[in-house]
Amino acid sequence: MLYPLLRLISITRIQSLDNPLPSNHPITIRLMNINDVPDVCALDRRSFSLPWTEKTFTYEVIENQLSIHLVAEVDKPLGKSIIGFIVVWIIVDEAHIGTIAVDESYRNKGIARRMITEALRQARQSGALICYLEVRAGNTSARHLYEKLGFEVDGVRKGYYQDNHEDAILMSLKDLTRYE
Ligand SMILES: CC(C)(COP(=O)(O)OP(=O)(O)OC[C@H]1O[C@@H](n2cnc3c(N)ncnc32)[C@H](O)[C@@H]1OP(=O)(O)O)[C@@H](O)C(=O)NCCC(=O)NCCS
Repeated sequence: MLYPLLRLISITRIQSLDNPLPSNHPITIRLMNINDVPDVCALDRRSFSLPWTEKTFTYEVIENQLSIHLVAEVDKPLGKSIIGFIVVWIIVDEAHIGTIAVDESYRNKGIARRMITEALRQARQSGALICYLEVRAGNTSARHLYEKLGFEVDGVRKGYYQDNHEDAILMSLKDLTRYE
């Protein structure tokens, strides 16, 4: 996913998420905090061939004023557990999905959809009009997810990913007013 270019810009505000979204599942979508970072990193490492560092997530949580960073948390018998996360950057009137993942055993339950919906609701409140993302050409799960949410393909970056030179598909969702 896209991430390196946008880190140094500092504007905009984000809103913390105190209230979980209504759901039939016992899953809460809430603001990511610094205590979540080790669990988020572990999930990130299980989900991506090029995971982010702990320092990167810490930066998102502590310093990056442009960052909307959420986790999905489930109540288990032995306590709460993080089963998803998303990072979205707000650049003036654009939202960029930097990363998103859901624990393998919780996939296809609508959790990614819920995290994106909440992140884009917050992005819209911060003034975003359009959302961009990049996805590996071979990542069919993610491409299905984005298509279901109304994202359209804008183009291809040939050989973009460092590890296997896979193409990146550029997608956008052009009207965020539906998230008002
Ligand atoms: C991509 C990913 C985040 C999707 O998370 P998820 O919680 O399983 O997605 P959801 O359950 O919210 O799915 C939302 C929609 O996408 C569709 N979808 C998700 N995975 C799919 C798959 N493998 N095949 C077909 N459709 C799929 C669902 O059918 C659903 O549509 P619906 O609500 O109309 O039925 C998850 O597979 C993941 O973490 N992958 C590894 C990390 C990754 O690739 N992140 C994306 C980087 S660009």
